[in-house]
Amino acid sequence: MEVIIQKDAETGSRTAAKIVAQLIKKKPDAVLGLATGSTPLLLYKELIRMHNKDGLDFSGVRTFNLDEYIGLPADHEQSYYRFMHENFFDHINIAPENIHIPDGMTKDIPAFCAKYEKTIIAAGGIDLQVLGIGSDGHIGFNEPVSSFASRTRMKTLTQQTVADNARFFSGDESQVPKHCITMGIGTIMEARMALMLAFGAGKADAIAATIEGPVAAIMPASILQHHPVAKVFIDDAAAGKLKLADYYRWVYSSKPNESCRRKNQNKETADNTDRNEF
Ligand code: PGA
Repeated sequence: MEVIIQKDAETGSRTAAKIVAQLIKKKPDAVLGLATGSTPLLLYKELIRMHNKDGLDFSGVRTFNLDEYIGLPADHEQSYYRFMHENFFDHINIAPENIHIPDGMTKDIPAFCAKYEKTIIAAGGIDLQVLGIGSDGHIGFNEPVSSFASRTRMKTLTQQTVADNARFFSGDESQVPKHCITMGIGTIMEARMALMLAFGAGKADAIAATIEGPVAAIMPASILQHHPVAKVFIDDAAAGKLKLADYYRWVYSSKPNESCRRKNQNKETADNTDRNEF
């Protein structure tokens, strides 16, 4: 696991966006796994900026979203379908047929979930999975004690997640759907790279448990300790409870890769984004 601590969410999101952009330039038909919530908003904003200013081309990119609420139609103002279109897809040149988001209105949930898994496999698997983390440690909507082997399926949200997400429903918990379709932890772990973002002191406990605690189903994100290529982008506040925070900062700033060495020779600012150390 590579822990990348940056001073704030803007810097962390920009650094993470560079990794996504590098992948798309190298593999124009890359398969991205995408997340919703407040956390990835600045990442999407930066990718939109790169599209507008630098011509970052999404025309071949394929996407699979992690999750969707059950019972919300696509055009509901809090559906993740709408979130993704308003905050990302409507602002880049992605082909509509390349976008995949679980259907919260499906009549046959098990059949839909099995097909979602098959569609991911048919696309060649996910190259890079963007993840947030819930204050209870969930990834996607894989709530505590979700099986590490789980695949796309229906889940019931915890009371904590319902309370956390009530802010999007005028603060009214009764309006928050209690069920969702989510990619499983097994599905997420098959992505070739996992890129987790977490910002703010509210995530500090979950981040400390994820990175430095035992791998345990009670803290779903801790499974990323077993992922061969997991990068965790956090700000100083989310890093607040890490015992080895200074070590992670030291590692990140001390081991420039080839491109960093070249940049340093050119007297440019060191940027260790693509140094790989897990
Ligand atoms: P947030 O949610 O980005 O809105 O904090 C993260 C999550 O629940 O995964």
